[in-house]
Amino acid sequence: MGAVVTERRVLSGMRPTGRLHLGHYRGVLQNWVHLQHEYECFFFVADWHALTTHYDDPRLIESNVWEMVIDWLAAGINPGSATLFIQSRVSEHAELHLLLSMMTPLGWLERVPSYKDQQEKLKERDLATYGFLGYPLLQSADILIYKAGWVPVGADQVAHVEMTREIARRFNHLYGREPDFEAMVNSALKKMGKKAAKLYTQLRKRYQESGDEQALQTARALVDDQKNITLVDKERLLGSVEGSGKAILPEPQALLAPQAKMPGLDGQKMSKSYGNTIELREAPESVEAKIKTMPTDPARVRRSDPGDPEKCPVWQLHEVYSDQDIKDWVQTGCRSAGIGCLECKRTIIDAINAELAPIKARAIEYENDRGLIKSIVAEGCEIAREQAKQTLDDVRVALGFDYG
Ligand code: TRP
Ligand code: SF4
Repeated sequence: MGAVVTERRVLSGMRPTGRLHLGHYRGVLQNWVHLQHEYECFFFVADWHALTTHYDDPRLIESNVWEMVIDWLAAGINPGSATLFIQSRVSEHAELHLLLSMMTPLGWLERVPSYKDQQEKLKERDLATYGFLGYPLLQSADILIYKAGWVPVGADQVAHVEMTREIARRFNHLYGREPDFEAMVNSALKKMGKKAAKLYTQLRKRYQESGDEQALQTARALVDDQKNITLVDKERLLGSVEGSGKAILPEPQALLAPQAKMPGLDGQKMSKSYGNTIELREAPESVEAKIKTMPTDPARVRRSDPGDPEKCPVWQLHEVYSDQDIKDWVQTGCRSAGIGCLECKRTIIDAINAELAPIKARAIEYENDRGLIKSIVAEGCEIAREQAKQTLDDVRVALGFDYG
């Protein structure tokens, strides 16, 4: 299958960290839920990626996998719209990873910022391993094996998508060059019709001369729309725009999530490692207790002391959960000591519990039907494997490893 037909394919993965919290929901899952209606979505559990840092205790990974999948489904990921699967069940990722490793300069991996950052952060683990160095390359294989056009990720992962683009470019450059490439492109152009061919040539020029991404997107769509040319010709035309050989592995783009960071109970970003989370399956009483014990503006010692919402982590939650009327009520009431902190927190407690109620209801259904989860994932793995096999076939042919 050609690189050009997967423009509307989205792929993203998450390391299995067990039960998810509101930070995951607001930062990632809500975005996935939107995307599943607009794109062909593949979402997977990156369990091999978990192994790069937790190789000393791999048996903990499995339960984290299933708990996370339950939370995905509970959050509204619909297995009828999106394909859900587990990385290690699609071993094609590993073969592509191996093949790509042969042409990946060491310096590219050493230069990825997360390599040194994570080693610093996770000092208690020995991450001077081959697998950990290859972390971003495994991610590249995850993406490229589906020829995904878009990869929704957080800011910390953009460098990985960027490296994936470089890997794709290098691969296409090394293995996409047929001896008569230019002639093949020209004959494909002839089949396109005069008007479309002219537009194509203009867009290619614009992209190549000024790196105009819009021109690249338009050229891709134009090529994709052509009815009279074969997939192989489409790959050549696309490759010719990108200045490489045939685009066997298309370059993906990062799709930055629109949501702001979800504040945690202490005002820092919500994160398991800070211990400031509210889980998606948190009981209402527990939500209440956690919010009630949140720190507030330290200047408000007594109920009669005025406060400043800007100095209070509860206010950050109002920014996420409250409408303008409530926000005005907080601003005025806090600064004039007209409201108490417990009153102020009450609307947050109610808003969070209201948000979690349908999620928890769905989670319970899945918790009670493990067989259903397993069959959803098994089906997703089947679909994913089918796609991954096709790409691997293309890759083997490009390398001349399709021995008869
Ligand atoms: N590295 C990603 C993270 O830590 C998870 C991941 C693995 C991923 N493979 C991927 C994300 C492919 C997007 C695409 O969040
Ligand atoms: Fe924070 Fe609300 Fe108390 Fe003001 S009234 S200090 S915003 S909790």
